[in-house]
Amino acid sequence: MTAKSDNLDDEIMCECSGTTRGKIQSLYKQGLDIDAISSWTGTLSGCGGCEWDIAQFLKELTEHEKA
Ligand code: FES
Repeated sequence: MTAKSDNLDDEIMCECSGTTRGKIQSLYKQGLDIDAISSWTGTLSGCGGCEWDIAQFLKELTEHEKA
């Protein structure tokens, strides 16, 4: 049985590059910003449709760190 958090980690946030939420979170924790994550994974380099979701997710991670 898979925990719910694992399912979220496997959720694709950028369909164009197939980048998962877990991958973005992992790179963010390694200190990469949105531009570096984009370069590394190809996120945001396709249709751009994921831009708002990813910006929002990174904002949540940043706020979570500050809390
Ligand atoms: S869904 Fe991310 S660039 Fe298209």
